[in-house]
Amino acid sequence: MKKVAITIGVLVVTVCFLSSSVAFADMPGADPGALWHYITKVSPYKEWSFWSDHQGMQPGRAPHGPLHKVYVNDRAVNSPKPPVKEGAIVVKENYSKARELKAITVMYKVPGYNPNDGDWFWAKYTPKGAAKPFGKPTGCIGCHGTRSNNDFILVHEFK
Ligand code: HEC
Repeated sequence: MKKVAITIGVLVVTVCFLSSSVAFADMPGADPGALWHYITKVSPYKEWSFWSDHQGMQPGRAPHGPLHKVYVNDRAVNSPKPPVKEGAIVVKENYSKARELKAITVMYKVPGYNPNDGDWFWAKYTPKGAAKPFGKPTGCIGCHGTRSNNDFILVHEFK
């Protein structure tokens, strides 16, 4: 009986693991070029949604610049509570006061990428897509980590 229970347990775990990797199969790796390609060509972020509590152009704080828009993909917008779903992406356009696009900062939830700090892949891009810094920058993590209980996200409150 015990053996059967263990076998069923192993099966359930395997099926869960397989289905989560299948669900992630269409997503880019933790790589700045692959992520940029994904958010501009495969699933252009300008066609995504805003969080209901943070729509359109909003005033922002340092270090990101005076104005911004935060776009979220389906996996992020359909995450009712923290942590957000695997493959969730948050794209923040950072504008000058004159509404000129200066930088694009991105958070991308990659399962197993950085478990100590919420499995986020971070990147700051120029408007043309050159990334610096990217990966696990201590700057991004240090500041956003003050809200680790909100999955490192600052503009949106999970209820
Ligand atoms: C000194 C603090 C600080 C640092 C460092 C920082 N951020 Fe932020 N970040 C913020 C604040 C504050 C907001 C809320 C929006 C605003 O005020 O601009 C924010 C918002 C964001 C958002 C929108 C989602 C959210 O969390 O609300 C993204 C994406 C983002 N930051 C990415 C980055 C990346 C990538 C880096 C590193 C290159 C970084 N941030 C470094 C303070 C910081």
